[in-house]
Formats: sequence, C-alpha cells, structure tokens
Amino acid sequence: MRILVTGGAGFIGSALIRHLIQNTEHDVLNVDKLTHAGNLESLSGIAINTRYELVQADICDQARISAVLERFEPHAIMHLATESDGDHVTDGPGDFVQTNVVGTYSLLEATRSYWQNRPEAERKAFRFHHISTDEVYGDLRGHDEPFNEATPYAPGSPHAASKAASDHLVRAWHRTYGLPVVVTHSSNNYGPFHFPDRLIPLTILNALEGKPLPGHGDGLHVQDWLYVDDHVRALLKVVTEGAVGETYTIGGRNGQKNLDVARHICDLLEELAPTRPTGIAHFSDLITHVADRPDQDRRYAIDTGKIEKELGWTPVETLESGLRKTVQWYLDNPDWCRRVQDGSYRGERLGFTDHKDLIA
Ligand SMILES: NC(=O)c1ccc[n+]([C@@H]2O[C@H](COP(=O)([O-])OP(=O)(O)OC[C@H]3O[C@@H](n4cnc5c(N)ncnc54)[C@H](O)[C@@H]3O)[C@@H](O)[C@H]2O)c1
Repeated sequence: MRILVTGGAGFIGSALIRHLIQNTEHDVLNVDKLTHAGNLESLSGIAINTRYELVQADICDQARISAVLERFEPHAIMHLATESDGDHVTDGPGDFVQTNVVGTYSLLEATRSYWQNRPEAERKAFRFHHISTDEVYGDLRGHDEPFNEATPYAPGSPHAASKAASDHLVRAWHRTYGLPVVVTHSSNNYGPFHFPDRLIPLTILNALEGKPLPGHGDGLHVQDWLYVDDHVRALLKVVTEGAVGETYTIGGRNGQKNLDVARHICDLLEELAPTRPTGIAHFSDLITHVADRPDQDRRYAIDTGKIEKELGWTPVETLESGLRKTVQWYLDNPDWCRRVQDGSYRGERLGFTDHKDLIA
C-alpha cells in the first residue's frame, strides 16, 4: 500500500512511520508542517529509506495537499496532524480550531476530490483513518463505566472540543459523500521519543537531574496508559481490517494514578540509572504535588472489547514492561532529549532541506 500519514514527525506519527518502514512493505509519505511538536530527529533512523518521503506542508493548504495526493496516489490516509494540548498552548484555543477543525475540513475536501476520481475498485478499498482521542468523552467519576464507542461526547476543554468537531466532520463526510472512513479514539500514550514536557518523560528527566517530580494535584488522577507501539499496532489493524464507517476505542488496560506512575518510575530508576543526583537518597524523595490546569479531567478508562473481538488486537505491554522500556530509552538517548529541551531540534531541519523529498 501507499500510505499518506499526516503529522508523521510527531510523537505517535513518528512511531507509526518507523513501524511502517521497519516492519511492513508499505510506502509512506509524511505530510507535516513541522510545528513545535514536529521533530525530524525522531525519524532519522528511517529518513533515507527509499520507501519513505517527507513533504513539509500545512494540512490547511488544500491546493498543496491536493497536488500531493494526485502525485502520490495513496491507498490510505492516516490523519494524525494535530495541535496538541499542553502547557504551551493553554492560552491559544485558536490554534486548536485552525489545525484540528479547519485543517481536518481542508484535508477531507482534498481527499474527497482525489477519491471521487479514482477507479471504482480503488474507491472501495480506500481508507481515511482519523486518529482521535478519548478526551472527546470528557472524564469519568467514581465508578462510571469505561468509555466505549457508544459513549456520548462531552468534551471539557477547548482542545477536546476541537477534536470532537473534527470527528463529527469525518463522520459527516462518510454519511454525506460515502468517503470510506474509520475513526479511532485512544487513551494517553507514552513511550520513546515523547517530548520531555509530557508527564512520563518529564518525571524521568527531572528525577535524573534531582528536580522535583510533578504529581498533578493530589496525584490521584487516573489515566489509562497506552504504550505507543501498542497503539501503532492497533492503528495498522484498523486501517487494514477495520470496517468502513466504524469507530474503535483503544486503551492500554493500564489505569493508574499519576502518583503511582511516578513511584513506579522512581523504582525503575533505582534499578536502571547508573547514578543518583547528588544529595538524593531515593528518587521517590523528589515526588511533589503541583496545581492542576483548570481543564484537567479526573479519570480516563477505555473499554477495548470491540477492537479485541472484531480485529483481534490486544496491548502487548503492561505498564511495568512499557515503563521499563521507556525509562531505559530515556537513559540511552540523552542527546535526543537535550536537543528537544534546548530547542536545537528545530535547527536540525536545515539539514533536511537537502533531502530530495522535502523539495516535493
Ligand atoms: N499523545 C497522546 O497521548 C494521544 C492520545 C490520544 C490521541 N492522540 C491523537 O493522536 C494524534 C497524534 O498525536 P501526537 O501526540 O503524536 O501529536 P504531536 O503533537 O506529537 O504531533 C503532531 C504533529 O502534527 C504536525 N502538525 C501540526 N499542525 C499541522 C498542520 N497544520 N499541518 C500538518 N502538520 C501539522 C506537527 O508538526 C507534529 O509533527 C492526534 O490526533 C492526537 O489527538 C494522541
């Protein structure tokens, strides 16, 4: 297959592309605007593979995306480009609306005109895979049942609302124009190449530097942690075997309080880190509590019954095995982390302008 991935320089997109190039025979075209969240260094291991191509473009640029589609002739589009939530954008909901809503609309329109002109057999086999989040369901309280494909939408933040809007657009393009779409909602991902401003990498890197460890509020928020490579395997199942028009929720079956995740990371560092920071007897002594962002939801949990039953997917990693791999990766890759932390990963892009594919 020829697969066009949007947002392939991001955390999950880069894991998906590494997997596609290393473990399948598909051709991959990565369309990425390379915002603050895009890091080509996460793709350096596969960048010169002849089955991989990069086009630096904004999904809001419909004419450009249309030209890319006509040239590459994809069999599937996996749409991961997003403006993610995070401390750096809590004041800027306009960014969410622009990329997540306007960008998804623009991509859908470019896709529709490309798809409508394909031969009948290709039209049937084509897939537009929209990768979304469980945040669109809001949060759970007490003993509420986990989210599943039928859970009503209740987004609680500007970011979640923009993702919800993009989901509605995708489903409307299926109902109105017949575009063959599949939609997935996953819980919080973690794993290698995750930016150090996110909870798990931040905890690992702060601990190694002897800095206080963020607990978020009372540390009792529960997240359903999904190892990124498990998510990638689920996405491939859905894009190749998922039923048109269907939605699948994806989680790690790893509901854990943030505080327990921090404790777990500290235990792993006791075992795996070569040294402790000066003056620190135990990594867990660094655990503190910080104020929540006002829109932070309280509990997330995902029912993965449908994707398990219909597509035969289950997560491979437990939180123990996934965190162990993650902690080890951050210990082994201090240069990648440093270049994200000091911003130099963005300068590296200059090195990629010579890459034949960036000129496309
Ligand atoms: N990270 C998670 O834990 C998580 C959980 C559930 C769902 N998701 C969903 O998975 C998808 C990918 O998330 P991620 O964490 O990898 O995101 P990310 O923020 O790490 O990466 C986003 C990528 O999109 C690119 N991008 C941003 N705006 C663009 C535009 N206008 N045109 C083209 N490219 C653009 C960025 O340069 C970046 O490479 C998103 O849809 C997200 O909602 C993520």
